[in-house]
Amino acid sequence: MRTASLSIDPAFVIAPVNRRTFGSFVEHMGRCVYTGIYEPDHPSADEDGLRTDVLELVRELGVSLVRYPGGNFVSGYRWEDGVGPVEERPTRLDSAWHTIETNAFGLNEFSRWAHKAGVETMMAVNLGTRGVQEALDLFEYSNHPGGTTLSDLRVSHGVQDPHGIRLWCLGNELDGPWQLGHKTAHEYGRLAAETASALRQRDPSLQLVACGSSHRQMPTFGAWEATVLEHTYDQVDFISAHAYYQLEDDDLASFLASSRDMDDFVDEVVATTDHVRAKLRRSKRINISFDEWNVWYREESRQLRAGWTAEDWEVAPRLSEEPYTVADAVVVGSLLLSLLRHSDRVTVACQAQLVNTIGSIRCEPGGPAWRQSIFHPFAQASRLARGDVLRTVLDAPVHDTARFGQVPSLDAVVTHDAETGEIAVLAVNRHPDEALTLEVDLRAFPAARLTEASLLSDDDWRATNTQQQPDRVAPRPNPRVSLEDGTLRAVLPAVSWSAIQLGV
Ligand code: AHR
Repeated sequence: MRTASLSIDPAFVIAPVNRRTFGSFVEHMGRCVYTGIYEPDHPSADEDGLRTDVLELVRELGVSLVRYPGGNFVSGYRWEDGVGPVEERPTRLDSAWHTIETNAFGLNEFSRWAHKAGVETMMAVNLGTRGVQEALDLFEYSNHPGGTTLSDLRVSHGVQDPHGIRLWCLGNELDGPWQLGHKTAHEYGRLAAETASALRQRDPSLQLVACGSSHRQMPTFGAWEATVLEHTYDQVDFISAHAYYQLEDDDLASFLASSRDMDDFVDEVVATTDHVRAKLRRSKRINISFDEWNVWYREESRQLRAGWTAEDWEVAPRLSEEPYTVADAVVVGSLLLSLLRHSDRVTVACQAQLVNTIGSIRCEPGGPAWRQSIFHPFAQASRLARGDVLRTVLDAPVHDTARFGQVPSLDAVVTHDAETGEIAVLAVNRHPDEALTLEVDLRAFPAARLTEASLLSDDDWRATNTQQQPDRVAPRPNPRVSLEDGTLRAVLPAVSWSAIQLGV
């Protein structure tokens, strides 16, 4: 069997693990909100209409932060439609997803949900059809303690304490022609800078995210980031990145190597931000908020959008409810490895999305909730990755892929918590059909003991979890892991995700 070896040393640190790497995304899209996190008639619903079965899974997933309310949705959204007495809220057409928005769920309901889920809120403002004033109004309603019209309005809506939201997205994907209020980089850069500086006049401690490109294949990618940052550099903290991957033409080898694209994408955005830094002669660095990433079979949504007619607007239709496979879970795991490896510059990340729509969690109206295959690598990485991400030296066999040429068959990240002594080895075997042995040299950690070793793999990489078989795909203990004479050895089957923990 082929062998991949990994060398590590506690002194070689990339960066601390950011808890914000384990963010997610709730958009008013499909059934993410309605009959997803919120379903007042559901048997598990609490006094706020929130599904407690879904809340429990969100906590288990280990999500740290959630971006809200979109996405494409935010570019046509009026936040004030979603506050106040529910019976007085307007019903609107949402052009982004061709959906009827009842506004039964809005800012205050989301904040209550976020509090119960134990997650930080990342709020997006509408810079598609709206601008500076509406962003300021939302900030005043949401974050000001009281004594002004909008903050008192919040109090009159039964929310005494301000929401205290620190992290704000200045619009969404405004480089995309599909976006309501699509703009050139100059137009967006100016608007984002004006909005950012107005928000900072209210609260200089806010953390602000300017929109980067919608994806790396956008014709304006690179130039967009540079121009936007030239306008906004002094006002913002982050530039966003978005990426979705899918199996194409049954090319499993290329699909499994998707994180190569994410690695390159991050490196290119970092290079672009640092280019602007040099050009403007600034000392601060702009970090990346990778606030949309996942596996997403987008063709279905594209076809759906092309086929929409004037008559078929619906409330909370089923959109992009992907039945995720074992291979999808391995790709999600490897994308997490890429984000962790870039922890020095990617300091916020949001998997898109949380429930039903492209979701790690699936649930049925009035029915059960269950974990999709992709739930597991995220939950394990969030639980086990602690302390610092270590710089690893990897010597792995390679294999050919049509899209990326030769790639190492193994990808791995190691974290080390100096306080507890715990080490996590997170790894994927991304070869489509060959197992390999991973060897990790642990001589620098003489007290290390194996505490947990699990494997997500299956004879059928197309296997999924369903309502009838919710645990068909799940991590199981890996009996072929040992620690002897300072070397950790693990046999990793083809198309697999592994999580190994060592304690002292
Ligand atoms: O997450 C789904 C959609 O993908 C978001 O609304 C949009 O920002 C992106 O194109």
